[in-house]
Amino acid sequence: MGKLWGGRFTKQTNHLVDEYTASIGFDQALAEEDIQGSLAHVTMLGKCGIVPQEEVETIKAGLQTVLDKIRRGEIEFSVADEDIHMNVEKNLIAEIGPVGGKLHTGRSRNDQVATDMHLYLRKRVVELAGMLHELQKSLIGQARDNLDTIIPGYTHLQRAQPILFAHHLMAYVSMFQRDIERLMDSYKRINVLPLGAGALAGTTFPIDRHFVAEQLQFDRVYENSLDAVSDRDFIVEFLSHASIIMMHLSRLSEELVLWSSTEFNFIELDDAFCTGSSIMPQKKNPDVPELVRGKTGRVYGNLMGLLTVLKSLPLAYNKDMQEDKEGMFDTVATLEGALQLFGPMIATMKVNKSRMREAVNQDFSNATDIADFLVGKGLPFRQAHEVIGKTVLYCIQQGKYLLDLTMEEFQQFSPLFDDTIYEVLRPETVVNARNVYGGTATDQVAEAIKRGEVLLSMTEQWLAEHV
Ligand code: ARG
Repeated sequence: MGKLWGGRFTKQTNHLVDEYTASIGFDQALAEEDIQGSLAHVTMLGKCGIVPQEEVETIKAGLQTVLDKIRRGEIEFSVADEDIHMNVEKNLIAEIGPVGGKLHTGRSRNDQVATDMHLYLRKRVVELAGMLHELQKSLIGQARDNLDTIIPGYTHLQRAQPILFAHHLMAYVSMFQRDIERLMDSYKRINVLPLGAGALAGTTFPIDRHFVAEQLQFDRVYENSLDAVSDRDFIVEFLSHASIIMMHLSRLSEELVLWSSTEFNFIELDDAFCTGSSIMPQKKNPDVPELVRGKTGRVYGNLMGLLTVLKSLPLAYNKDMQEDKEGMFDTVATLEGALQLFGPMIATMKVNKSRMREAVNQDFSNATDIADFLVGKGLPFRQAHEVIGKTVLYCIQQGKYLLDLTMEEFQQFSPLFDDTIYEVLRPETVVNARNVYGGTATDQVAEAIKRGEVLLSMTEQWLAEHV
């Protein structure tokens, strides 16, 4: 059998053109979705009386056989048949004869490929939300175990104010929550059916698009046939959500890398998630977070790539749009690869509480509180800031920390100091003084963890409703 569209041609396609234009090398990943869409389409052709019912049954059985063969790896895809759609159709005709040629009635590859992409991404978005949810569970688990662990909090990567390690981890839970909500929201725009748009203008056959939508569990059908076949916004949107997820993962990765250095020594990643050096026997490298940090680049690249492919494209379908696939597949694989490691890596990470405590004891991150103490005694904040600046400078020159100063030393800087200052300066006091909604006080973080658990169960419910 020659080309399915060979009728108008007088020559064979140059084999380099076949190879250049083919997408079968990567779009075979859409085989399941392609056949799922075809089964719904042919069922509708039968229901609408466009193809006789017994032929519909033959085609459905044939599609099932082709699917089984693909799953068993028994079908050799051919570059001459260009893409997954024509490879499936060719195999269907080989399987059941010319009646297989009725499958494509009232349909074009343009609405077919768009449908496949919607079906594919809809599944992936749910999977990825589930994986982010697992990561949140690991983070919340570590937060629960570290409600009493204080670390220096940083701004400019300089020690700023002490915070609970749990509070720091819960910040990531909030970030990943936004990511999950973005995926959930995008689902509404992914779950729309393009099929029935034909090549661009609709079809002359009396098809029933809503029936197909119902069978494939799409919430809606595209309003406009041109838009249906040329819209790739849902992929751009996915790639941009994916970019934000990777940006979040790369920030967490960077902290994990820093914290595992000898200089910080705040955490130790489990041996199962680290690698060694081929030359330096002492090394234990945090390769996973490093690579996640690095792979963020390709995901951003995929987003820029597709935005650029689509820029200035006239309506409706253009072959350029075949370039929407590899970046999307690569992004899904990159995200899934990172997320499947991140949950267990966080859950098994060892937190070096004593080293964190040592870091907190050896810094000036309680300086704001001592200034606030003087403000409480009636000193204007600006003056208090100046007094404490001088006190800190004195400490640095003497090689001391604020809690090491004697009452006489404190009083050299202000007569307002009294004995209660030693309690004010304890890291626990400093942390628990930030007792505002969303602050780092232990009670507040305990509440934040409870709210986090509510979010977990809301996501679980959404996932159960979107399998
Ligand atoms: N392989 C094509 C793609 O991925 C399928 C649609 C082709 N349509 C066409 N009229 N050439 O975009």
